[in-house]
Amino acid sequence: MRPEPLPRPAPISPEEFAARRERLMAELPERSAVLLPGAALKTRNHDSEYAFRQNSDFHYLCGFPEPDALLVLLPGREAGEAILYCQEKDPEKEAWTGIRIGPEGAVSDYGMDEAFDNTQRHNLSELLDGRQTVYLPLADTTAMGIAEGVRGQLSARARRGAIAPTRFADVSALIHELRLTKSEAELALMRHAAQISALAHRRAMQASRVGRFEYQLQAEIEHEFVWHGARAPAYGTIVGGGANACVLHYVENAAPLEDGDLVLIDAGGEFDLYAGDITRTFPVNGRFSDAQRALYDVVLEAEERAVAAVEPGATLESIHQGVVRDLTAGLIELGLLEGELEENIESQRFRRFYLHSTSHWLGLDVHDVGSYRIDGEPRPLEPGMVLTIEPGLYIPDAEDIPSAYRGIGIRIEDDVVVTESGREVLTSQVPKAAEDIETLMQERS
Ligand code: GLY
Ligand code: MN
Ligand code: MN
Repeated sequence: MRPEPLPRPAPISPEEFAARRERLMAELPERSAVLLPGAALKTRNHDSEYAFRQNSDFHYLCGFPEPDALLVLLPGREAGEAILYCQEKDPEKEAWTGIRIGPEGAVSDYGMDEAFDNTQRHNLSELLDGRQTVYLPLADTTAMGIAEGVRGQLSARARRGAIAPTRFADVSALIHELRLTKSEAELALMRHAAQISALAHRRAMQASRVGRFEYQLQAEIEHEFVWHGARAPAYGTIVGGGANACVLHYVENAAPLEDGDLVLIDAGGEFDLYAGDITRTFPVNGRFSDAQRALYDVVLEAEERAVAAVEPGATLESIHQGVVRDLTAGLIELGLLEGELEENIESQRFRRFYLHSTSHWLGLDVHDVGSYRIDGEPRPLEPGMVLTIEPGLYIPDAEDIPSAYRGIGIRIEDDVVVTESGREVLTSQVPKAAEDIETLMQERS
């Protein structure tokens, strides 16, 4: 029996996309324009392509879902400020690869003021004539190529009165600041991505058996994502049994799961381009050993305290420092570090066991955009920001480590929204207390 599908949240409305464009344009000086290309298809091998994924910044500003589009914003233009170039309608190509939205659809369904197909890109220079500053993603070679081309065409027509842009400026950081604070509609999509991801982790816990392969748990996880409409993982699913859990970006997922080992799964589904990002670590055979449990509870306590510290005004740095303190105290208690707490923190000796940071922003990208510091200072959290809390301990397989702890890797990761009064944990449907995990695993069919 398959579970009932979760109710689907509403997609982002054309009005919300328009409001985002308005907010961006309100920040630009007089006589400026924005050029923002969407993503292109990428070849996987020979004539096969990777599944298309729209560029996150482009999606944020217009939601247009096809490859090879170009968004142009012309603040103050009487005839319309939002212009899109997109793939041309072409019955023969559409017979192979599906119906294209086309310029008319871009206006009627995506809120564009005007749209052209890509065979009409030559008129772009007329649209940009007289715009002094062109805002574009400076790191994007496609965007730079388009902007340079336009500048060349307008310069060549200078004697006939054309005015070429004199400045290219980066649009990315402006969009990224907008993306950092999520709207209600975005939070609904992120809640959904997180719920699907939680169901997937529950399923993997119940499917774990000694002798199964890491990729078989990956299959359980990704089955659940797709079944619920999260059509792709938000990043490469990590399933690491035993010491593979200590490899932070392990993606081979090819080893058999051994009796007596833990398995770490870091996986999140992507729903309507929004990412879930969950890590759980559990015993392959359904029961923690004493040493595993002792280490696990150190990570769990640090994680729970860090989640509880999320509130407006806190910073990712202060939360990370709390985690470092809790993990280091636990490592001393278990005899994996010697000496005083302060000295172990000061000397960074804890980094032998915990070398990543505790949090990152989460949104359209798993490591989402938005600056982490303002004027060099850690940025205070504000309502609407979404972040992960993901402490871990990774114990090397080394001679000076007590044998019961060697090669154990544990991480626990939740997705958290900052709210007016504190926090909302998006990923609480997947258990993390050791007893709750053991209970769920016993319920397996
Ligand atoms: N899954 C990537 C991360 O947790 O940062
Ligand atoms: Mn993460
Ligand atoms: Mn993760």
